[in-house]
Amino acid sequence: MSANTGSIKVGDKTVELPVRSGTIGPDVLDIGKLYAQTGAFTYDPGFTSTASCASGITYIDGDEGVLLHRGYPIDQLAEHGDFLETCYLLLYGELPTAAQKSDFDYRITRHTMVHEQMARFFQGFRRDAHPMAVMVGSVGALAAFYHDSTDITDPKQRMIASMRMIAKVPTLAAMAYKYTIGQPFVYPKNDLDYTSNFLNMCFAVPCEDYKVNPVLSRALDRIFILHADHEQNASTSTVRLAGSSGANPFACIAAGIACLWGPAHGGANEAALKMLAEIGTVDRIPEFIARAKDKNDPFRLMGFGHRVYKNYDPRAKIMQKTSHEVLAELGIKDEPLLDVALELERIALNDEYFIEKKLYPNVDFYSGITLKAMGFPTSMFTVLFAVARTVGWIAQWKEMIEDPGQKIGRPRQLYTGAPQRDYQPISKR
Ligand code: SDX
Repeated sequence: MSANTGSIKVGDKTVELPVRSGTIGPDVLDIGKLYAQTGAFTYDPGFTSTASCASGITYIDGDEGVLLHRGYPIDQLAEHGDFLETCYLLLYGELPTAAQKSDFDYRITRHTMVHEQMARFFQGFRRDAHPMAVMVGSVGALAAFYHDSTDITDPKQRMIASMRMIAKVPTLAAMAYKYTIGQPFVYPKNDLDYTSNFLNMCFAVPCEDYKVNPVLSRALDRIFILHADHEQNASTSTVRLAGSSGANPFACIAAGIACLWGPAHGGANEAALKMLAEIGTVDRIPEFIARAKDKNDPFRLMGFGHRVYKNYDPRAKIMQKTSHEVLAELGIKDEPLLDVALELERIALNDEYFIEKKLYPNVDFYSGITLKAMGFPTSMFTVLFAVARTVGWIAQWKEMIEDPGQKIGRPRQLYTGAPQRDYQPISKR
């Protein structure tokens, strides 16, 4: 491979392909002309070695455990800023000035209400529906209520749709929670900040005043920052692929929510807490570690491992610190789930199997403990992930739509089915 080309030999053909370099991170071999020049495709079903796009939004160094949003390290953003500041950064590429931040907060706040008909839309769901099923349906339904921001060719409509999504998804999430517990919906309040507003919509009831605990609100706001964006993960790739056909942004985000729901992805926070509860006590940990290592047992340690991080997920460290803060604030002295989580982490990180496979706790390992302490049921954990990730999906969708070279995503395949054959009448089968 010369400085800016790589060569690939396929059969008797050798082709030179351009190598492109980014700002930081691995170079890429541009294989756009490979099929035309060799008649062969590349094959990478899990995209383990494939860059699907060029992006300037987020960068992960999996070996070093580094996560940057527009160049800023996640721990600095989580420490010094709030979630809407991170939203602004992801959308516009720069940290906002004080004036830009207050204008952005004002605009988001005034988009938090949803069309009143959405309350009737919810009546169609069963009360025991999983809140993620309600989110997939209700976010997709936004396209039926906000026709004036579905023309993706109009930059103004793209920005309105982006603001509406960031502002309304928490309202829909709170409605999904209230609906499943049979309590009345709580309207957003413009005098509350983004995360306090969300907590109020989730936990306030008409019968008495609800006072948001500022420590819990700050902790949840930090959790939203940690979940905001993460390069081309499965749900973001889903949003990009859906958006590449020109589908409206509400439909694309609904597709992202559907993908996030899987236990291998965003559903892992719900699965991780259920796993900690199933383990129950520290003395049962060895039994589950053995199962996780047993090739014949499909059990995996939920909240462990990552496609990119082969070091500690930087978000997990902050999540662990946040769980201690929230438990202390709530006066929860002994939380058996946290004891199990800390001991499970200690044992796993000293076990040859996990060391050899570079399996570390990821963002989902500690989040459930914190969210449970805050009063959220496990069924809401992935909904909260979706609330936070909406800005990442939207920022990545906008970047794709605004890329002049953008075209519809249409992968090819390795065909392993039957060769061509003629139809046989049923009498001859
Ligand atoms: C998220 O992509 C993102 O960025 C996602 C995310 C985001 O912010 O968008 O970070 C959020 O989804 C975090 C991941 C949450 N998922 C879980 O915690 C579920 C448990 N983890 C795994 O299922 C798994 O680690 C994945 C899905 C996260 C990653 O899987 P990969 O990259 O496909 O790795 P793999 O399945 O090929 O595993 C490599 C080896 C395998 O063993 P061998 O076949 O090589 O012998 O490690 C083993 C796996 O069996 N392994 C595990 C394990 N994870 C991987 N063994 C036990 N427990 C685990 N959790």
